[in-house]
Amino acid sequence: GSGKGAALITAVARSLGDRPIDKYLYAMRFSDETLLDIMNRFKREMENGLGKDTNPTATVKMLPTFVRSIPDGSEKGDFIALDLGGSNFRILRVKVSHEKRQTVQMESQIYDTPEDIMHGSGTRLFDHVAECLGDFMEKQKIKDKKLPVGFTFSFPCAQTKLDEGILLTWTKRFKASGVEGADVVKLLNKAIKKRGVILVNDTVGTMMTCGFDDQRCEVGIIIGTGTNACYMEELRHIDLVEGDEGRMCINTEWGAFGDDGMLEDIRTEFDREIDRGSLNPGKQLFEKMVSGMYMGELVRLILVKMAKEGMLFEGRITPELLTKGKFETKHVSAIEKTKEGLSKAKEILTRLGVEPSHEDCVAVQHVCAVVSFRSANLIAATLGAILLRLKDNKGSPRLRTTVGVDGSLYKMHPHYARRLHKTVRRLVPESDVRFLLSESGSGKGAAMVTAVAYRLAEQSRQ
Ligand code: GLC
Repeated sequence: GSGKGAALITAVARSLGDRPIDKYLYAMRFSDETLLDIMNRFKREMENGLGKDTNPTATVKMLPTFVRSIPDGSEKGDFIALDLGGSNFRILRVKVSHEKRQTVQMESQIYDTPEDIMHGSGTRLFDHVAECLGDFMEKQKIKDKKLPVGFTFSFPCAQTKLDEGILLTWTKRFKASGVEGADVVKLLNKAIKKRGVILVNDTVGTMMTCGFDDQRCEVGIIIGTGTNACYMEELRHIDLVEGDEGRMCINTEWGAFGDDGMLEDIRTEFDREIDRGSLNPGKQLFEKMVSGMYMGELVRLILVKMAKEGMLFEGRITPELLTKGKFETKHVSAIEKTKEGLSKAKEILTRLGVEPSHEDCVAVQHVCAVVSFRSANLIAATLGAILLRLKDNKGSPRLRTTVGVDGSLYKMHPHYARRLHKTVRRLVPESDVRFLLSESGSGKGAAMVTAVAYRLAEQSRQ
């Protein structure tokens, strides 16, 4: 057997037996063979994204980030970081200093981003960012300091340098008008009346933050509202960027995996329903199968169908159960807790008005486990492909590396991290992977990229 993961799945299968409930969940449980197959598909998608001729039509965009090195420990300075696009809009002040060793001091504040701003005009969105920044600078008493700004913008951007980024498409919860196709650094500069902003994807920020603690870190992944990964690629393999020496960080935008139909054989009716009801139908299909923004809703759709067929709640269906968004990913995390999980299930389902029996609670816990397991398994497959690529690039029989991770789902779910680590190690046995949780990594990392950029700019002036 392949450890606890398989054991739980077997337990799920056994407890559900041949009951019809099994047919809903069957399509969501993958053998290692299937996972290896998906790993191979993703490997080919990465190659397509990197190649000159295949890039224009590639679904996985493999965007160059113009980040060429991780922190070397000599950076210093006082920076502002803006972090927009995850579950919170956060502003940070990051002080990197050098006494005996490099230390980082951080202060941060979270600001609300109301839905009408996320879906309104781009100008209003960036004015909102500027207003919050003004408030933050005032509170920090740095109004008249001209601190460098690192901008973590967690959306796919085409970059030709660090201080530019054309938004290719909105993803997740955002859809402000007039921003797609525009340079978001310019929009931000205009709103905050400042120049020299450096743009970073949240995956890159996460990798950089972990790189600060562990020089071996060369991958960054996010498993939160959305999901994505970046890693250090050999420049000679990046057709879109001049030069053959050294490496550059690539933002894979793996959330779009499957947008060309590559995952149709593993998508279920529930995945299709999620997609139809989303802000971006037909896009980010991999993301919609795995990330936190959709997981609770996936479970809800399964429960509705099961209830309709009389397999749950004695067929009771309530308006709450039928309401989009009423079952959240944080509920999945609560219900899967080892000790209090079943009582949490009772509480949450009772709030939905379905009067759950003990058996209902057990069944719902199983549904949650299958959906969150599927997510961790799929991420293990795509991450496995990146690890194999790093290993091949180095031409070594084994790979020793560190992966920086951030994101609400990874951090909050009681078993997610363990399951992911385990599956990755099983799918890529020739790797020794260290997973490093990056605390508020994406924002802090933007400051680190800015710090590295300033250090390099200074060195080239000398
Ligand atoms: C979405 C965005 C991507 C980001 C990820 C995690 O997939 O397109 O840029 O890194 O979410 O926040």
